[in-house]
Amino acid sequence: MVIYKELIIKDKAGVINGEQELLIHFNSFFSEKEARLEFKDGNLILLLKEMDINKLKNYVIENATTKDKHEVLSGILDKIESIKSYGLNNGKRNYVDYNKERKVTGRKGKEKNRGIYYYAQDHPFSKQNNTLPGEYENKIICGDSLEVLKKLPDNCVDMVFTSPPYNFGLEYSDNADAHYWEKYFEQLFVIFDETIRVLKYGGRIIVNVQPLFSDYIPSHHIISNYFIKKKLIWKGEILWEKNNYNCKYTAWGSWKSPSSPYLKYTWEFLEIFSKGDLKHGGKKEDVDISADEFKKFVVAKWSIAPERDMKKYGHPAMFPEKLVEQALKLFSFKNDVILDPFNGVGTTTAVAGRLGRRYLGIDISKEYCDRAIYRIEKQSS
Ligand SMILES: C[S@@+](CC[C@H](N)C(=O)[O-])C[C@H]1O[C@@H](n2cnc3c(N)ncnc32)[C@H](O)[C@@H]1O
Repeated sequence: MVIYKELIIKDKAGVINGEQELLIHFNSFFSEKEARLEFKDGNLILLLKEMDINKLKNYVIENATTKDKHEVLSGILDKIESIKSYGLNNGKRNYVDYNKERKVTGRKGKEKNRGIYYYAQDHPFSKQNNTLPGEYENKIICGDSLEVLKKLPDNCVDMVFTSPPYNFGLEYSDNADAHYWEKYFEQLFVIFDETIRVLKYGGRIIVNVQPLFSDYIPSHHIISNYFIKKKLIWKGEILWEKNNYNCKYTAWGSWKSPSSPYLKYTWEFLEIFSKGDLKHGGKKEDVDISADEFKKFVVAKWSIAPERDMKKYGHPAMFPEKLVEQALKLFSFKNDVILDPFNGVGTTTAVAGRLGRRYLGIDISKEYCDRAIYRIEKQSS
C-alpha cells in the first residue's frame, strides 16, 4: 500500500468544471509512487508521496494553458514547495510522513527478541559505585597507568577519555612508540582491564584511535572487539573528520591501477563504550550542553581541525581541546570524575578542569606530566 501525504489544493467552494480533465491528465503523467490528484468530499486533493520538483515545474509550464489550469497547477507547485520533505529518493523529494512510515510497533518486545546488546547482557559488573579517594582528585600522576590504576577502588570514575600510544614509532620523551603489534595490544589491554575496573557502573569509556592503515592494522576494530569481549556495551562511534588532506605520503599503492590502491584517510575514530548501563545519571543543574550544541554533537561526524600547537607543548600526538570539550559536554556532567590513563601533556585534564569536571591524568613521562601541570596552573591563574 502506498502511503501518501494528503494536501487540499482547492476546497469545495473553489472547485469548478473542467478540473476532471486536468485530474486524468495529471494522474496519467505522474506515477502512483509520485502523486495522485483526486476529488474527496467535494475537495480537490493532492495525494503526495515523492516528487521531482523540476519535473513538476516543467509539467506546470507545459500544461497551465488556461487561467483555471494555471491556478490549480501553480497551487499544487506552491503547496509542495512550501512543505518539508524528508530527503531524496532517486532525485525525488520524499514527502511521506517519515515517522508514520518508519513507525515500529512493540519496539521493546522486538528488541528483547533480537537480543539487544546480547554480548554484554551477562556482564560481571557491580552496581556499587565508589568515591575517588581525595588524593587522586584533580591530580596529574607520573607513572605507568597499570601500576597507578591498581591503587584505585573499583567503580570510581565517571568517564574515561583517552588516546593510547599509537605504536606508530613516534618519538615520545621516555619510551619508543613501536612494538610488535601483538605485544602492543597485549600491553594496552592489561591497562584497559584496569581502566574498565575503575569505571563506574553506567560510566563511559571513549578511546580515540587512529588505525595504522599502512600496516593494515584496524586498531579501532581490534580495540572495540576487546571491549565487547569484556562485556562493555558499544554506545557508538564518532568519526573525527580532521579534513587533513595534506597527508604527507605520496605512495598511493599501485598508482592508477586496481592492483593494490592505497586508501587515504582524513579522519580518526572515537569508540564509545558503556559499562553495565547505557544511561549515566547526573543532576539537571550539572548539564552544561546547550540545545544547539546537543543537536550538533549527536550527529556522529565531528569536523575539528587537528591540534596545531604540538610544537609549543612538545608532544607529537596531541588531540585538540575542542574534541575533548564536545565529548565531555555530550557524555558527562559537571563534577563527574574524568580519567585519562594516557594523559600526555594533559589535554583531557585541562579541558575537564576548565569545564568544572574533576579529573585524574596519568602519564609515564615525567616531562609530559610537568607540562600538563603547568598547563592547568596557567589556565586557572
Ligand atoms: C597519544 S599520546 C596522548 C596525548 C594526549 N591525548 C594529549 O593530548 O596530550 C599517548 C601517551 O601515552 C603515554 N604512555 C605510554 N605508555 C604509558 C603507560 N604505560 N602508562 C601511562 N602513560 C603511558 C605516552 O607517554 C603518551 O604521552
